[in-house]
Amino acid sequence: MERMAPEALTSTPARRARGAYLVEHVTVCLDCHSQRDWDLYSAPIIAGTEGQGGETFDDRHGV
Ligand code: HEC
Repeated sequence: MERMAPEALTSTPARRARGAYLVEHVTVCLDCHSQRDWDLYSAPIIAGTEGQGGETFDDRHGV
């Protein structure tokens, strides 16, 4: 498979803010990549675990 060359980007405060907005809200990355408290309604993210990994998707799912 042919891959595109990575685009060189310059980090700017505006780009980091846009990325944080997308990751933390629009694309819900942290819903999976954080620990969640499944004993509470809607399984809220446990503070301090954001982006540290989280749900395991393995053979236990979909069986
Ligand atoms: C529905 C749950 C879910 C959401 C939402 C999610 N991820 Fe993931 N992510 C996973 C799982 C599961 C894996 C591990 C996949 C695997 O190992 O095959 C993973 C893997 C990754 C990896 C590692 C890829 C690698 O090659 O090792 C990165 C980086 C990542 N996710 C970033 C993100 C970002 C950025 C977002 C938001 C745009 C996001 N994830 C949203 C579940 C999710």
